[in-house]
Amino acid sequence: MNEKYETILEKVETILDAGGERDAQLQAICELLDAEVLHYDWVGFYLVEPGTRTLVLGPFVGEPTEHVRIPFGKGVCGQAAESEQTVVVEDVSAEDNYLSCSANVRSEMVVPIFTSGELAGELDIDSHEPSAFDNDDAELLERIASMVSELL
Ligand code: SME
Repeated sequence: MNEKYETILEKVETILDAGGERDAQLQAICELLDAEVLHYDWVGFYLVEPGTRTLVLGPFVGEPTEHVRIPFGKGVCGQAAESEQTVVVEDVSAEDNYLSCSANVRSEMVVPIFTSGELAGELDIDSHEPSAFDNDDAELLERIASMVSELL
C-alpha cells in the first residue's frame, strides 16, 4: 500500500485511540478520508439494523442521500451486504442494481464491516471519476473496516 494511505491508517488509529462517542469517531473517519483522498467524493457508513436485513445510513460526508434505509440485495450496498464481499462498480451507469445518490457519481466501492464474524455495517465510497478504485483503495478501506469493527 502506498505511503499516503499508510499515513491515513495512522490517523484513523489516532481517532480510534482518542475514544469518545461511536458516531463522532465514525464521522471523523469520514471527514479524514474525504479530505485526504481527492477521488473520494462521498464517504459514509451504513449500519446493519439487527433482525431486519436492512442497512441504515450512519455518519457520512458528501451530498445528502435519500437512501437512508437499504434492504439487503438492493443497490450496490445491498449487494455487498448479501454477499458479505467488497463490491466495486467501475461504471455505475452500466450497473442495473444501483441506487443513485448523485448524478455526478461514476464509480463506487463498498466494503463490509464484520463484528465477531457477523456483518455489522459497511463503508461506502462514491467517486466522480470512473474506475477510481484500485487495490490500494481496497486494502485501505478493508483495513479501516477491520479497525472500526469493535465500534459497531
Ligand atoms: N449507491 C448506493 C447507495 C448509497 S449512495 O451511494 C450514498 C447503492 O447503490 O447501494
